[in-house]
Amino acid sequence: MPLAPSPTLLVTGGAGYIGSHTLIELIQAGYRPIVLDNFSNGSAHALKRVESLTGHALEVIEGDIRDAALLDTVFHQTKAHGAPIQGVVHFAGLKAVGESVAAPLDYYQTNVAGTLTLLQAMDQAQVHTIVFSSSATVYGIPREQPYTEMHPIAPINPYGQTKAMVEQVLRDWCATLPARRAICLRYFNPIGAHPSGMLGEAPQGIPNNLFPFITQVAVGKRSHLNIFGNDYPTVDGTGVRDYIHVLDLAVGHVKALEHARGTTGGFAAVNLGTGRGTSVLELLNTFSAISGRKIPYEFQPRRPGDIAECWADPSTAEALLGWKATRTLEDMCADGWRWQSRNPNGYED
Ligand code: NAD
Ligand code: UFG
Repeated sequence: MPLAPSPTLLVTGGAGYIGSHTLIELIQAGYRPIVLDNFSNGSAHALKRVESLTGHALEVIEGDIRDAALLDTVFHQTKAHGAPIQGVVHFAGLKAVGESVAAPLDYYQTNVAGTLTLLQAMDQAQVHTIVFSSSATVYGIPREQPYTEMHPIAPINPYGQTKAMVEQVLRDWCATLPARRAICLRYFNPIGAHPSGMLGEAPQGIPNNLFPFITQVAVGKRSHLNIFGNDYPTVDGTGVRDYIHVLDLAVGHVKALEHARGTTGGFAAVNLGTGRGTSVLELLNTFSAISGRKIPYEFQPRRPGDIAECWADPSTAEALLGWKATRTLEDMCADGWRWQSRNPNGYED
């Protein structure tokens, strides 16, 4: 009996941190991903490493999600070649909260207008399935912990607004045609790297986020960590977040696609987190113990816009998608350290 052909997927932003890890899981699950990335924050080296880890030659298109003509061509050509795109995994976007406050139009343009352009091209090609990278940031100031998906949506910065707007667009898009399926995955704090040490997070310039900052201190690229606030009403005064291994997140996308392909249609928003909160100091101490590196730090005032603590109620993901995070904080630190110590300058080595 002939093997069933691998379902073709368009993966926007596949050259980025979460996208590149997800490509590995998608390929291993039997999908044929076509990557569309403008390389504004992604790396062609990451894609080469995905190829060597999986033994699979990737199809890569350098281009922008805001380019309607390009998108039409991509959808049209795959159809003409007999392997039409069956779904889209949509990572492409801008993600720095502070930058979104300084340059909101860029964020609305890329994240919102870019997604509208993508959806219009999907409509033209009659592609009805999308998995979208949303964020826990859509919840804004927590009313209670953990965040469930029923928590009010009230983002407090333009980046979060773009995610909430796209979720609303997808909800309305699904409501107009029963066959349409959109799953918004609300990520908590992805950290860590592929256990091979070949793929990881490679932020440009000074990292905004805690984990890559810690690993850069550990490898000697930065002198010390600034801890923003030690007077929060938390376990030790420092901020608490739900850190999740990037590969657990990647598996979540495969599960979301399986779910979407098995349903008749509709919209869903699902938290992807571990359900466990970890403070800055707890993460720092775990990382030090795993890496054997001392991480000097200084307490600084609270960072504007930060909340004291947040973590996920991940029960919807388990009930709906059959997904649960399996990797520990120690795994996240070990894998993140392996990546950083072997690639001190990211993909530039
Ligand atoms: P990333 O910057 O590493 O990846 C995004 C990719 O999209 C990059 O490769 C970039 O080159 C590409 N891109 C950006 N604009 C594009 C455009 N107009 N057209 C085509 N490609 C474009 O970010 P990431 O951490 O992998 O995040 C992926 C997604 O997940 C983003 O949508 C982000 O907002 C969301 N998210 C990330 C986090 C996090 O902490 N990393 C948390 C919640 C949600
Ligand atoms: N922190 C420091 N020092 C640093 C960086 C961060 O002490 O140099 C602290 C923060 O104050 C916070 C914690 O570490 O308490 C985590 O901060 P991150 O910047 O790593 O993560 P955030 O929770 O602020 O935001 C991240 C992403 C957002 C996303 C959000 C929820 O940056 O895009 O998680 O998913 F929306």
